[in-house]
Amino acid sequence: MKTLIVYFSWSNNTKNLVEKLNEEFNFDVIRIERKIPYSKDYNTCAYVEAKDEIEKHIYPEIKQLEINPHNYDRILLFFPIWWYTFPMPIGTFVKQLKGFTGEVIVFANSYTNDPKYMINSMHDLKSIDDKINFKQGLFNESTERHIEFLKQI
Ligand SMILES: Cc1cc2nc3c(=O)[nH]c(=O)nc-3n(C[C@H](O)[C@H](O)[C@H](O)COP(=O)(O)O)c2cc1C
Repeated sequence: MKTLIVYFSWSNNTKNLVEKLNEEFNFDVIRIERKIPYSKDYNTCAYVEAKDEIEKHIYPEIKQLEINPHNYDRILLFFPIWWYTFPMPIGTFVKQLKGFTGEVIVFANSYTNDPKYMINSMHDLKSIDDKINFKQGLFNESTERHIEFLKQI
C-alpha cells in the first residue's frame, strides 16, 4: 500500500508532529502552501485572512504540489483546526483530489480539545467531495498514539 502524508501547518505544530511520527515510517510527504502566504502576524492571519476565507467559502490558490497524490493508495491528511474546521487550503487540495479512489485518513489538532471540530471537519470535507473515501483518524493525540495508530492500519 503506497501511502502519502499531506499536511498544512501555519505555526509548525502539525509540521513537527508529522516529522516526528514519520521518523518511524518514512512515508512520502508534501506540505500544502497557500500561493500567497498567510500573514505571519496571528491577528491578521486569524481574524482577517483565515476568517474571511472560511466565512465566504473562498478556496485560495495553493502552490503546485511536488508529488502527484493520485499515484498513492492512501493519503494521511494532517491539519490544524482553523475556526472550528479545516483551513481552506485543505479544501483547495481536496478539490484537486477529484477522482481519487484510495482512502484519505484525517488527522487534526487544535488549541482547545472540542470533539465537535473533528465532526465539523469530516462533514465539511465530505461536502466538498462525497465520492472520496474519507476516514476519521485522530484528533489532538500524542505523537506516540499516532505511531501506534498508523502501525495498526
Ligand atoms: C487562523 C487560526 C484559527 C484557529 N482556530 C482555532 C479554533 O477554532 N479552535 C482551536 O481550538 N484552535 C484554533 N487555532 C489554534 C490551532 O488550531 C492550533 O494552535 C494548532 O496546533 C496550530 O497548528 P500549526 O502550528 O500546525 O499551524 C487557530 C489558529 C489559527 C492560526
